Amino acid sequence: MAGKEYYLMHKNVRVCLMEIDEGGRLSRIRINQAEKEHVPLGGQMNSTKFHEWWRDRAIPKTRHGAQTALQRLGYPSAGSALVNNLALSLSDCYWIMPRGTDLSWEDVNLYANDFVDSFGEITINRDYRIDLRKATRFDCAASQGELQKKWCIDADGRRYMIKGNYGQSYQQSLNEVFASSLHRQQGFLNHAEYTLADVRIDGDQEGLGCLCYDFCSEGAECISAWELLQTVKLRSNESYYYPLKEVCLSLGMKEADFTAFMDYQIMTDFLISNTDRHMNNIAVMRDPDTLEIRGFAPIYDSGNSMFYNVSFQSGKDIWKTDYLRRHP
Ligand SMILES: Nc1ncnc2c1ncn2[C@@H]1O[C@H](COP(=O)(O)OP(=O)(O)OP(=O)(O)O)[C@@H](O)[C@H]1O
Ligand SMILES: [Mg+2]
Repeated sequence: MAGKEYYLMHKNVRVCLMEIDEGGRLSRIRINQAEKEHVPLGGQMNSTKFHEWWRDRAIPKTRHGAQTALQRLGYPSAGSALVNNLALSLSDCYWIMPRGTDLSWEDVNLYANDFVDSFGEITINRDYRIDLRKATRFDCAASQGELQKKWCIDADGRRYMIKGNYGQSYQQSLNEVFASSLHRQQGFLNHAEYTLADVRIDGDQEGLGCLCYDFCSEGAECISAWELLQTVKLRSNESYYYPLKEVCLSLGMKEADFTAFMDYQIMTDFLISNTDRHMNNIAVMRDPDTLEIRGFAPIYDSGNSMFYNVSFQSGKDIWKTDYLRRHP
């Protein structure tokens, strides 16, 4: 079935016109050459990359709880949830506008308009009762990551994200808080500050998650290192470090700033045995109006560390075997 026409918007800039079907599949992308600098960096190289950028915008199918959330909200796929929520996010300023509707960024953006992230609520607590009285135009924000998460609005209107944990332990949330404390005590300011949060989890029971305020806004969006790397040709088996450095410097970052941030991040990841600093867990900040790169995003997502996936018992066994090997 032919799709409907949408503009890909960057705030109020019409970046391109494209067709999107109900499942979120793209076709017939026509870039507005007058605004081509606003094409998402990840999609600038060619049409395949553009499709990949779009596909990566949907909530991953593999997100814990995503299938239940899609089903309960009546979405046939993550792509359809993306389209129905105009592909809005709280990490950047892209969205889609159905052709002929004449909506503006001010009408829809999640930084300023109310939303209830029912999708996120259900990923954390599959027994969450959807309160129809609170229904808003948007019930899902585009975001990456495997862990259950929801976006909320506090009493002062500030946006924050709550993250859950794998399995029964709350270690990932505790690790985020520990990592924040480590950075704070080092006097390193460019980190996301996680605190513990009471959450309702599956079975409507009390549980523990972690909370972090949005480090993006209408004046500052983040772009992942993975997206930046889509602007250059990568050699197979090559470390991403140098290509990432090349891209960051070409976008105006100072070499000393790149090195200082990466050295600090690599050192602290090593200390907390973080096993998850992949290219979607590093990002830079950009001014969405001037497109100027402002430096690295705060260090975030440090929860998969400190042997979070080793049970207490098997941890003890590993330590014991190691001790006996060294002290025969
Ligand atoms: N405080 C924040 N403000 C703005 N965007 C954020 C914030 N925290 C996370 N994000 C965005 O949401 C994405 C997912 O968050 P995060 O990496 O913490 O989740 P995750 O499920 O633990 O990821 P992973 O699959 O890498 O373990 C990030 O890659 C980032 O783009
Ligand atoms: Mg992540």
